[in-house]
Amino acid sequence: MKIQGAKVLVTGGNRGIGLAMARAFREAGADVWVGVRDAKAMTEFPAIALDMGSRDAIERAALELQAMEFDILVNNAGLLTGGLLEDQSVEEIYAMLQVNLLGVIQLTHALLPGMVKRGRGKIVNNSSVSGVMNFPLASTYSASKSGVYAFTQCLAQELRGTGVSTLVMVTPGVKTRMFDEIPKKYGAKLDLKLIEGAISAEEWAREVVHAVEDDREVLEPKGFSGLGVFLARHTPGVFNRLVATKYRRDGLF
Ligand SMILES: NC(=O)c1ccc[n+]([C@@H]2O[C@H](COP(=O)([O-])OP(=O)(O)OC[C@H]3O[C@@H](n4cnc5c(N)ncnc54)[C@H](OP(=O)(O)O)[C@@H]3O)[C@@H](O)[C@H]2O)c1
Repeated sequence: MKIQGAKVLVTGGNRGIGLAMARAFREAGADVWVGVRDAKAMTEFPAIALDMGSRDAIERAALELQAMEFDILVNNAGLLTGGLLEDQSVEEIYAMLQVNLLGVIQLTHALLPGMVKRGRGKIVNNSSVSGVMNFPLASTYSASKSGVYAFTQCLAQELRGTGVSTLVMVTPGVKTRMFDEIPKKYGAKLDLKLIEGAISAEEWAREVVHAVEDDREVLEPKGFSGLGVFLARHTPGVFNRLVATKYRRDGLF
């Protein structure tokens, strides 16, 4: 898809991967808007107040967003949960699922009909290697990200011939605030050498822009993360045995 002149909305575009993608799309010639919780605090891009953690807030913003006729919707905002399932609060799980999965579906549901009507558009969804590689302690986060992956792949098929297409990002470890939360949530029971080798948000954002330009449907990570995704998909027995050696339910230390 041609990015020059395209109108792009990036949720969670105020920091991390979202901000890096907003900048990369702008560099490629797009007219970039960000959907953020605190629109007043955003000075670098035109911002729309959009709390992805609230069904009502998304519904309230929908009319304005529909009228803006975005060509590319990047569903990026996300939260990390982690730890033994019984140690995660139900409130935290619901809040994460609202942002990571339900909000993605609701916002896409609001903007997709306009794209189909115009015969032009792209839905870009930020899934994760955790949507494919299922680690202990990641049950709820992985559920959200494999949900995003499946949602996007189903849409890809539904949309054939409409002029609207999708891209799902199988995002690897990327150095952001969320990545820094991993040791606290996972480190006591999982050997984190398993997920070493994070890349910069800028590097991943450039790959996303190229994948949109090339109309790819899935953006996979390279290197160690790419190998992990391959093993999890094609030899899940090997993957699970490897992970089992790195996990202690009663704690590593
Ligand atoms: N970093 C990684 O290693 C990694 C790996 C795989 C996938 N991902 C995915 O990449 C996406 C971006 O994460 P990141 O690494 O850039 O993390 P980050 O730096 O923590 O950024 C998270 C973004 O989500 C926004 N957000 C959270 N709750 C929101 C809400 N209710 N409404 C609107 N925005 C909300 C945050 O906005 P506030 O500033 O308002 O909180 C922030 O912009 C997430 O979907 C994440 O799951 C990240």
